[in-house]
Amino acid sequence: MQSEDRVTIQPATNIGGTLRVPGDKSISHRYAMLAAIAHGKTRLANFSTGADCASTLACVRALGCEITHRDGTVEIDGLGPRLQPAAAALDCGNSGSTMRMLSGILAGQPFASELMGDESLSRRPMKRVIAPLTAMGAKIESREGLPPLRITGDKLSPLEYELPVPSAQVKSAILLAGLYAQGETVVVEPVRSRDHTEIGLRAFGAELTRSGSRISIRGGQSLTGIDAEIPGDLSSAAFFLCAAALFPRSNLVIDGLGMNPTRAVLLDVLASMGARTKVLKLEEHHGELVGLVQLQPGELKGTRVSGAVTAAVIDEIPVLAAIAPYTRDGMVIEDAAELRVKESDRLAAVAQNLRAMGAKVEERPDGLSIPGQQKLHGAEIDAHGDHRIAMAFAVAALRAAGETCIHGASSARISFPEFFHLLQQLSSE
Ligand code: S3P
Repeated sequence: MQSEDRVTIQPATNIGGTLRVPGDKSISHRYAMLAAIAHGKTRLANFSTGADCASTLACVRALGCEITHRDGTVEIDGLGPRLQPAAAALDCGNSGSTMRMLSGILAGQPFASELMGDESLSRRPMKRVIAPLTAMGAKIESREGLPPLRITGDKLSPLEYELPVPSAQVKSAILLAGLYAQGETVVVEPVRSRDHTEIGLRAFGAELTRSGSRISIRGGQSLTGIDAEIPGDLSSAAFFLCAAALFPRSNLVIDGLGMNPTRAVLLDVLASMGARTKVLKLEEHHGELVGLVQLQPGELKGTRVSGAVTAAVIDEIPVLAAIAPYTRDGMVIEDAAELRVKESDRLAAVAQNLRAMGAKVEERPDGLSIPGQQKLHGAEIDAHGDHRIAMAFAVAALRAAGETCIHGASSARISFPEFFHLLQQLSSE
């Protein structure tokens, strides 16, 4: 049952069916930006349906690109490396990816741009992109490291930069700026993060090398538009995979799913807990792996998520935490302080909402400890305006006693507008 910004979830007995999820958000952002600075036309089928990627498209349009968007396919007429100044501030909405990655391109443009965002984005740290882009020669004004950003681009110098926090967005901003630098830019990532920008740059015709944790790109390379289908978003599928894992009789198949190894670590975490996935088909599209995946539920043991694994499943932690109380041994999540600076403080939001459902949970500065074998009850959930919190607690609600009301459910539109509809279709009461 739905009202404007509230969705009620009833307990379920299993999750079953075959599903395709909309195009990957991370890849959609990147390919729209790469298309803008490429020569010629790019066609992107199965483009993300989320509002975040619509923000990226609006920014790219404001920077002079012609875009058509029909039946899930986006066509972008690339302008080549030089974009046009926007007439007004570029509105990134709720999207940190848009603001941080576009900053890399704007740093190399011979004009000034302003980037702004909604209330949540206006609280998110931008020093992590300001520092390296400033070191390359861009001038960036901010509100003490917070948005809005005013970027005055310039001729950029190459940079060798070791990432102080594992962040694919920061890595991407530097690599994109590196295209505009005179010489070779090197990013060192001590903890591996998603590599869609590297794969995308190659797909659009750039040369880029990786040696261990060092990624190098030569400035001045030109890109050429491509015709691609965006793989399904594993971070969206995660809600259904975790939901299906809660019930022994679930039978879930997901087709066209992005299986990039830097993104599919959730499948290993689920396997370590006892729910395995069978990959029935695997193909490569423009360097990205795409698969047909079947979830095979099993007794859910429990797990500890820490270090590089935490970084790899950072977007899936809210939903993992949401199923943790139902596991046999519970879950410990460590090294996850980054979750405090996402669309909401996700550690606090998860702890608060689990407690509202009657769960015991210990909140730590950089993680959570959630005992297993708990019985939860339906509750009033506050999504804190955060899409992943809204969807994670819809999953927790499936095994709770009684109905749960998700307040702020419409935030799911940020990454996965179809979520509640699909959940209703796939869950049996
Ligand atoms: C993303 C990287 C991650 C992730 C975000 C999307 C990306 O953020 O949490 O949802 O597309 O590069 P960080 O770069 O801040 O780790």
